[in-house]
Amino acid sequence: MAYNGEMNTESYKKMCGEAAAREVQSGDIVGLGTGSTVYYTIKYLGELTREEGLGIIGIPTSIATEKIARESGIPLGTFEEYQELDIAIDGADQVDPGFNLIKGGGGAHVREKIVATAAKRFIVVADETKIVRTLSMAVPVEVLPFSLGLVMKKLSELGATPFLRLSGNNYFITDNKNYVIDADFGAITNPKKLETEINKIPGVVDNGIFTNLTSEVYIGANYGVKTLRK
Ligand code: 5RP
Repeated sequence: MAYNGEMNTESYKKMCGEAAAREVQSGDIVGLGTGSTVYYTIKYLGELTREEGLGIIGIPTSIATEKIARESGIPLGTFEEYQELDIAIDGADQVDPGFNLIKGGGGAHVREKIVATAAKRFIVVADETKIVRTLSMAVPVEVLPFSLGLVMKKLSELGATPFLRLSGNNYFITDNKNYVIDADFGAITNPKKLETEINKIPGVVDNGIFTNLTSEVYIGANYGVKTLRK
């Protein structure tokens, strides 16, 4: 049964990832998120590029995504070159009914938020396990190494239990060469306020709460793909 469950989650990711890719038009500058769901979006955009003449420029949000997009044959640009995007597509770790998100499970949330903010339309792709009533996952907080101790202390004062993210026996390092603290606040009743409060701590680069950014959510589930719009 467990095996079957895994299979289903993977197929839900593929369904919603590909459905969102079909929203992309030739000529679009496209923000490419990071993770195992948007992976299917990127692969499908590559297929459309190679086989159906889709002409886009992708702006990757991580080194991992850049590699997948390049291997898929998607022409790429940088955020330095293109600061206005037609559309961005990305996954999420949790999505609440107000389209507030927790992101950063893969540690790419800083660039992901920058790219989502610059996009006219931001589509989130998620299998149904990511949909929650209230955000409650530990919030990923990217931190300048210099300020690690201070940020741990201030996050505790804000009410969190902070955990420094590890990768094997070492500290996890982001593409921006910083650390990530996963700050567990329990249920988050006011995501906007918490997002702002965390970002006031000196040394915090950005955190994984995304508010007022998402225009649509594509949910993959056993009934197919459900699209929610604001
Ligand atoms: C990476 C992210 C991802 O979008 C998020 O973790 C969801 O990933 P997945 O689709 O693999 O569950 O925010 O920083």
